[in-house]
Amino acid sequence: MLPRGGGCAAADAMPVTDAAEAFVRAGTRSAPVPFVPELRLHIADEALGLWSQMQRALVRGEAPLPFWAFPWAGGQALARYLLDHPEVVRGRTALDVGAGSGLVAIAAARAGAARVTANDIDVHARAAIGLNAALNTVSLDLEAGDLLDSDDGESMVLLVGDLCYEAPLATRVLGLLQRAHDRGATVLLGDLGRPHLPRAHLEAVASYDVPVIAGLEDAAVKRTTVWRVR
Ligand SMILES: C[S@@+](CC[C@H](N)C(=O)[O-])C[C@H]1O[C@@H](n2cnc3c(N)ncnc32)[C@H](O)[C@@H]1O
Repeated sequence: MLPRGGGCAAADAMPVTDAAEAFVRAGTRSAPVPFVPELRLHIADEALGLWSQMQRALVRGEAPLPFWAFPWAGGQALARYLLDHPEVVRGRTALDVGAGSGLVAIAAARAGAARVTANDIDVHARAAIGLNAALNTVSLDLEAGDLLDSDDGESMVLLVGDLCYEAPLATRVLGLLQRAHDRGATVLLGDLGRPHLPRAHLEAVASYDVPVIAGLEDAAVKRTTVWRVR
């Protein structure tokens, strides 16, 4: 169960500021990713405390929920898959949509992608992505726009981790996946089987038992699948 509310925040194209970076640093510490321990992220120290604080900020209309402060199950599974199958991205351009912490984009860069763009509409996510890329000594491009109804039209690999957590979002994600697939891109989605996942249009590539952040899901380990478009 991923807590609802705020995931579909309106796109904000604000540049990453020192204040946004300071906010990310203040709420997190560098730690290995449970299922991808060769990568480290700025992860919330006290997950539920930060989540509750940001829920209050969300109600005041100040900021969306801190999706960037945790490696979600779908992102962990997809990052694991890329590091174990680097041929999927090696030498190719990749786009991670709804990148959050940047975990999947960082894995793609580590796996040898020629260029990786990490996209998120939340400025704190983009701040976290920059900090996390530096932590893992990889270079990423940042994209702030909402690409769900378009696609960047050029990346050879389209990557999405855990972005089907609300119905309207899942519908838009499927459209994005299908457009990219139709133009010949390799398309991969990591998802633990959230209720709105458009399963009928997907087929499984790999599945893993992924440790997740206590309190944010309904179990400590979630069976999580890397999907491709059918
Ligand atoms: C549950 S998190 C997943 C983060 C990461 N992919 C992972 O698996 O760990 C979802 C992320 O998608 C972002 N997001 C939501 N709607 C978006 C949109 N229309 N375009 C880009 N990012 C979006 C949120 O800001 C959030 O960072």
